[in-house]
Amino acid sequence: MEWTKEARYRTYESMTLAEQKKLELSVSASPWRQHYHIQPMYGLLNDPNGFVWYNGRYYLFYQWFPFGAVHGMKHWFQTESADLVNWENKGVAIKPDYSFESHGIYSGSGIVHNNLLYLFYTANKRDEEWNRLASQCLVIMDKTGRMKKQATPIIKSQPEGYTEHFRDPKVWREKDNFYMVVGGQREDLTGCVLLYQSHDLKQWSWQGEVKTKERNFGFMWECPDYFELQNHGILLFSPQGIHSKGDSFQNIYQSGAFVGKPLNTANGHFDHGDFQEIDAGFDFYAPQTTVSPDGRRLLVGWMGLPDVEYPTDSEGWAHCLTLPRELSIEGNVLYQKPIRELKEKRKNEVSAKLELSDSVENLGTLSGNSFEMICEVEIGSAQRAGLKLRVGEGEETLLYLDHGAKKVVLDRTKTGTPFAQEYGTIRQKHYQKNKVRFQIFIDISSIEVFVNDGEIVFTSRLFPKIESQGIQFFAEKGSAKIEAIQWKYE
Ligand code: FRU
Repeated sequence: MEWTKEARYRTYESMTLAEQKKLELSVSASPWRQHYHIQPMYGLLNDPNGFVWYNGRYYLFYQWFPFGAVHGMKHWFQTESADLVNWENKGVAIKPDYSFESHGIYSGSGIVHNNLLYLFYTANKRDEEWNRLASQCLVIMDKTGRMKKQATPIIKSQPEGYTEHFRDPKVWREKDNFYMVVGGQREDLTGCVLLYQSHDLKQWSWQGEVKTKERNFGFMWECPDYFELQNHGILLFSPQGIHSKGDSFQNIYQSGAFVGKPLNTANGHFDHGDFQEIDAGFDFYAPQTTVSPDGRRLLVGWMGLPDVEYPTDSEGWAHCLTLPRELSIEGNVLYQKPIRELKEKRKNEVSAKLELSDSVENLGTLSGNSFEMICEVEIGSAQRAGLKLRVGEGEETLLYLDHGAKKVVLDRTKTGTPFAQEYGTIRQKHYQKNKVRFQIFIDISSIEVFVNDGEIVFTSRLFPKIESQGIQFFAEKGSAKIEAIQWKYE
């Protein structure tokens, strides 16, 4: 099908029953539907939006284009969960109604105030000449789930000196004030974050830029998020236009954080260290955080990237969200650990122990395409040692330690159906210790690896055959040991 403007800019309401049935049929034949990740029923999912705890439940929305695996008219799709593990689809929450949002409801965030849920989003409009007009808007939801959209934007357009790339409001509270960061682009085409302030969440005043030390760091900063954690100020954002450097910044666009002193909201000054890429994998973008009722800072990301084609595109659906993660700071480094609630899924426990020298062996009886696994690899005299996952006919995904280079490596060269190969098929990152602990979550078409309790994380899509379920351990040019425990998810 040809994705003309007309085909891309339709709202969900205009989907015919025949179109819906066709998409459902195509998706149901996909070999790559996930078992325990949030994914669209059909169409394309991108950024997580409005992640918040409200009225005894987590709300997590996402960007959704219903008609196929392309970007077009975006809606907010709503999911809810009491425990962060089991999610319920609730349907479209915010759709384009007004002329100022005629080309999509773009990303944003949620905050609870006076028992109401305030959801902020970017309204995207294109004029006759296809010029973009972006404004920041508000919908208020009450405890019955009723949504009341404000009939005019709360911020009509970008401030002077900035372009129409003005989107993704994230709101937080500090004493009696509310603040909002919005992703922006200066007129000299460099990326930045814009700061607003409000007393009532409805009237907003422009405070200036968040003043970081990076004046020329990519052309656009999408999806900013500011929060404080363990007395640090953290500005999370997804910059576009950063060139790769060594093992870093290998994906088309990046996601990461500045960690520093708390932001000075009076003058926008932010004193921080170097940009930290928060995920070393192939497919991670536009993360957003919230706070759990017990005070944990939780993060969810999009397990995908803009402007990259994926093997499920031809099936009429694309992408999923990451598992929720808990953030912490250790020595100025942002750590991500899988949330403890996931332990609830641990069933069918199996374990294995192996010591090898210059060989490859099945890792006991471990196998599968949907599981969690924790293992400790001790490298001994080997040059390289680690795991082969999703092993099948001609397919394997490697996760190993390169002892000489002191790097953890994720290699999807032979993982299955190839994609995005122009961005390379190997990702790697330095590690320090001799013993390395991996916590691995494999779903039908993804892998999330937490190294040494979240110091390094690799998030990636994989598209192997469903039957590729082998798990092996290998050691090259010397010996290495592994101890592993696995839980198969139903
Ligand atoms: C990031 C992004 C946001 C925008 C949304 C549109 O992936 O480009 O900046 O709001 O996606 O779907």
